[in-house]
Amino acid sequence: MSPTVDLTNDGDIAVLTIDSPPVNALSADVRDGLAAGFAAAIADPLVRAIVLICAGRTFIAGADISEFGKPPRGASLHQVQLDMEASPKPIVAAIHGTALGGGLEVALACHYRVAVPSAKLGLPEVKLGLLPGAGGTQRLPRLVGVEQALKMVTSGVPIGGKAALSFGLVDELAPEGELLATAKAFAGRSGLALIQVRDRNEKVEAAHANAVTLFADFRKANARAMRGFEAPEANIKCIEAAVNLPFADGLAFEREQFMHLMNGLQSKAQRYAFFAERMANKIDGLPADAKPLPVESVGIIGAGTMGGGIAMNFLNAGLPVTIVETKQEALDRGVATIRKNYENTAAKGRMTAADVEARMALLTPTLSLEDLGQADMIIEAVFENMDIKKEVFGKLDRIAKPGAILASNTSYLNVDEIAASTSRPESVIGLHFFSPANVMRLLEVVRGARTDVQVLATAMATAKRIGKVAAVSGVCHGFIGNRMLSLRQQQAQALLLEGALPEQVDRVLYDFGFPMGPFQMSDLAGLDIGWSADTSKGATIRDRLCEAGLRGQKNGHGFYDYDAQRNRVPSPVAEKIIFDFAAEKGIQRRDIDDTEILERCLYPMINEGALILAEGMAQRASDIDIVWIYGYGWPVYRGGPMFWADHQGLAKVAAGLTRYGFEVAPLLAKLAAEGGSFTGQV
Ligand code: 3HC
Ligand code: NAI
Repeated sequence: MSPTVDLTNDGDIAVLTIDSPPVNALSADVRDGLAAGFAAAIADPLVRAIVLICAGRTFIAGADISEFGKPPRGASLHQVQLDMEASPKPIVAAIHGTALGGGLEVALACHYRVAVPSAKLGLPEVKLGLLPGAGGTQRLPRLVGVEQALKMVTSGVPIGGKAALSFGLVDELAPEGELLATAKAFAGRSGLALIQVRDRNEKVEAAHANAVTLFADFRKANARAMRGFEAPEANIKCIEAAVNLPFADGLAFEREQFMHLMNGLQSKAQRYAFFAERMANKIDGLPADAKPLPVESVGIIGAGTMGGGIAMNFLNAGLPVTIVETKQEALDRGVATIRKNYENTAAKGRMTAADVEARMALLTPTLSLEDLGQADMIIEAVFENMDIKKEVFGKLDRIAKPGAILASNTSYLNVDEIAASTSRPESVIGLHFFSPANVMRLLEVVRGARTDVQVLATAMATAKRIGKVAAVSGVCHGFIGNRMLSLRQQQAQALLLEGALPEQVDRVLYDFGFPMGPFQMSDLAGLDIGWSADTSKGATIRDRLCEAGLRGQKNGHGFYDYDAQRNRVPSPVAEKIIFDFAAEKGIQRRDIDDTEILERCLYPMINEGALILAEGMAQRASDIDIVWIYGYGWPVYRGGPMFWADHQGLAKVAAGLTRYGFEVAPLLAKLAAEGGSFTGQV
């Protein structure tokens, strides 16, 4: 009937099965198949009711995102839904895996929904800078109520089968493995009413009385999470329309808002990021037989800021971790911090006390490196010092079992040099986590000159297992992320000397969409990281602040002054240090406008990105963007630095760099001259 949609009859029940791997997305083929399948089943006099089910790992996971922005083809999803709702025979959706976006919207156009408990149902369009464009914002609140619908459309987070049952989103749960049989039995019931979700007005009418307060409160409570994004507000407006307008008008409003978002740059950026994230996981030239090695136990060396956070990732994934320190005190402190983090999570109700104990039970603290002899993967997170790292890897070489992966969490150091301190450089790799390591999604995987492909494949698979987004970097100072960051830091410092103040630079970057500006970040991290009074040369503003006893948030004084609640105000002491330093250097301070601040902070990063690409340190421009989105809080609605540069226009970026006295990277100069782009997205 259709290559992707199959129709069979079982007695008087028609079963329509979508089989379009990998995720049964609603491509033109699938929509055509659904249109034809429903028409045939409705026309068949032997059929009394229809079950819609999917083959493979999931129910429909949404519209086919790869079709967005292209000329429309095939049957319209809206028409298919109208035909389904108008069907004189009841249609039952049978849901397993993920019913997401357009997938859930198809299920909402059915008369009934049956799901297995493990199913996940949601409207994640907001994560693509969109809103549900096939009636989701109008039908969902009619089933689950306005507050729950608001949560679902603005967070994009799906709910499980049981919760869906309790909210009225599904009508019945099927035992796992018995979905089809249960859905058929449901459809076969006599006297099933033809319920159209569009007519179920009770819940939206109930919200009418206090709608104004409800929406105002919701906007206020979520303002911080939604800052800068266009899509969450558009989603809220559509739910408001569901409350205030008749169904047909609400649907028209949703359509208009959907098209507006779809044509905007934010959604384009977020859709680009969706595919970039998946692409980053693919390694050019990796042979097919490079299968990941088993990783069932992990060793971590160093229980400081990073070691503890890294350990939590593996404990969360249920893997036993042995953590090593040199002194009992440091070990105890590290373990206590891990416990405290878990207990804080439990106190917020996001994990049970039993979960805390289960994770802690997987952790073995030790002072003996020898205890890592059986670990499949060992991650070193000791001080950022080449001699210490070499000594640790030299010892590991003797202790670790053959084939164990030996990883370093170094931020800047040469992974090849570290590898050379072992007799097995093929087993050595960089696994660069970001602080806080249990929270930040990025894992920069640093591929050494001699790193074995299987070791690389294992690192990528492990990243996925612990919920990280991995991007591969070659060996260079600071890898992709920190190498680019240092350019931004240099400019931020220079801007202070030339006339800007910390709060101005921070505001410009915050308004751009970063969670915080560079000076707020320095104060938070601690100004004295990597600084010591003995070696300070007084050569930077930071040196001068540290010499004056300013350490950042930890002692209440840094680029800003902080009160007990960590509220910040400009620091007269820091300002004087900046002014004096500028005077000492003979710099005449001037007014600097916001555009110059933004361009000088971001353009040099892009220039460095072009060098990184040309040197082959990143496989592709989109990997650089993933590093910045997941490691440094680059606003995803701006697609990452390389995507953003493409949309600024590379000629403009190159001209700006020249104006500010930078040498334009050859790749950037070439693309700018040709009218080309880094990402192919313009
Ligand atoms: N369209 C096109 N391709 C899709 C897709 C979609 N909606 N969802 C996933 N894919 C592709 C991925 O790009 C990937 O391709 P690759 O193997 O070539 O890299 C493949 O399917 C498998 O995806 P994942 O690697 O992400 O597989 P997981 O098992 O980890 O996750 C998933 C599966 C939970 C379904 C996840 O892919 C996902 O969240 N997909 C997006 C869901 C979504 O956003 N749906 C809404 C779309 S917008 C919409 O429906 C508009 C409507 O309102 C009109
Ligand atoms: P830290 O100083 O908080 O922790 C390092 C720990 O290693 C200390 O507890 C120390 O006692 C222990 N240690 C030192 N030598 C050891 C040895 N021989 N055996 C066992 N333990 C030993 O440092 P942090 O911040 O955790 O950094 C660790 C590594 O992670 C560094 O290479 C750093 O560059 C890198 N990194 C740091 C980030 C950050 O934001 N702090 C981000 C990403 C990477």
